[in-house]
Amino acid sequence: MYTSLVNVADYAKASKNKLSSEVWDYVEGGAGRDWSVENNRNAFDKYKVMPRILNNVEGINVETTIFGRKISAPIIFAPTSPLKLFHEDAEVAVVKVSSRVNTVAICSTDSHFDLEHLSQMSDNNLWFQLYCYGCKENAESLIDRAQNANYNALVVTVDAFFPPRRERMMRNHFKLPGDVKMGNLTQPMLDGLPRRGDGSPIRHALTWQDITWIKEQSRIPVILKGIMHKDDAIKAADLGVDGIVVSNHGGRQLDQMPAPIDCLQDISLAIGRDVEIFMDGGITNGIDVIKALALGAKAVLVGRPYIYGLSVQGQRGVEEIYNILKCELEDACAQLGISSISNVNSTTLSII
Ligand code: FNR
Repeated sequence: MYTSLVNVADYAKASKNKLSSEVWDYVEGGAGRDWSVENNRNAFDKYKVMPRILNNVEGINVETTIFGRKISAPIIFAPTSPLKLFHEDAEVAVVKVSSRVNTVAICSTDSHFDLEHLSQMSDNNLWFQLYCYGCKENAESLIDRAQNANYNALVVTVDAFFPPRRERMMRNHFKLPGDVKMGNLTQPMLDGLPRRGDGSPIRHALTWQDITWIKEQSRIPVILKGIMHKDDAIKAADLGVDGIVVSNHGGRQLDQMPAPIDCLQDISLAIGRDVEIFMDGGITNGIDVIKALALGAKAVLVGRPYIYGLSVQGQRGVEEIYNILKCELEDACAQLGISSISNVNSTTLSII
C-alpha cells in the first residue's frame, strides 16, 4: 500500500497531505521565516563523500556503543513533543520502536505520556530530556523520577527557555488541543506557571550554575543539548558533562543561525573524545549520517523524519523511517568501501 514511500522526503509529502495545515506548520516550521530549518538541511550538500575501492565490505557493521551500551546504528530518536498531535499512540510508538530496533529514544519532559508509563513500554535504552518548569524542586523531582524509572541518561536542553517567534504558528494562532497533555507535569507543578501563546507553560531559564547542580543530582550521564559555540562546548566539558548535542533545536528557536553540521568539526576538534558528541538538525538520509560522523559526531538524533512516519503510519511508520535511514547508511558504507561504521573519519569526506 505504501510502496511509493522509499525515503524521508516521500514520508514528508505523505505527512503533509495527512495532517491539518496547522499541525503540519507546527512540525515543519521553525523560528522566523524558516531560514534555519532549510539551511540545516541544505548545509549537508556542501560536504561530499569519497569512495575507496577494493576493501572487503561483505559484512557491513553499523553498530556503535554509547555509554557502554550497543545500539544497532548511530541514529537516535530526538526528544519531540507532544506527539499526540500526530498520532494517538504518540511517544509510546517511538519507545516501542526504539526497543524493537535497539536504539535510544529520548523522552521529552513535554511528552503526552508520563515517563513511568513510557519506561514500561520499552525494555531498552531510554534517555530522559529535561526542561525545568518553575522551581528547582520540580526539576529535582523529574530527575529522581527518571532515575527511578531506569532511564540511562539525562539530556538537558539548554537552547529553548524563551518562547520562540514561530511565524507560521503565530499566523495560525496555534494552540495545543485540549486532549494533548503534558503527562510528566503534575497539577501542583503546573499551577501558577506563566503560559506561552500556544497555551504551554513558560520554562525556567537555566545557567551554568544550574548545570553543576544538575550534575550533582544525577547518577546517570548528563548530556547538554543545544550547543553551537565551541567555547560553550569547552565549558561544558570542563564542568564534566558526559555528552553534548550540537543542535539549534531543528531551527525552531531562532532564525539565521548556522547549521549544526557546520559547527560540528570545530567543536569536536576542541573537545576531543572525552565527551560524547551528538548532533541533530536536517538529517534526512543515511549519507547525512556518514557526514556527521566524519565531522566528529558519535551518533545523530533525528526529529521530524520519524514524526512524518508516525503521522502517516503510526508505530509502523516510525520503524519504517528508522529502517530506511539504517539501510541508506549501510548502502553508503558499502559503496564507500567502509565495513565498520567506526572506520568513518575525516578522510571519508572529499576535499574536492
Ligand atoms: C522538537 N525538539 C525538541 N527538543 C527538545 O529538547 N525537547 C522537546 O520537547 C522538543 N520538541 C520538539 C517538537 C517538534 C515537533 C520538533 C520538530 C522538534 C527538537 C528536536 O529534539 C531536535 O533537536 C530537532 O527536531 C532536530 O532537527 P530535525 O531532525 O527535526 O531536522
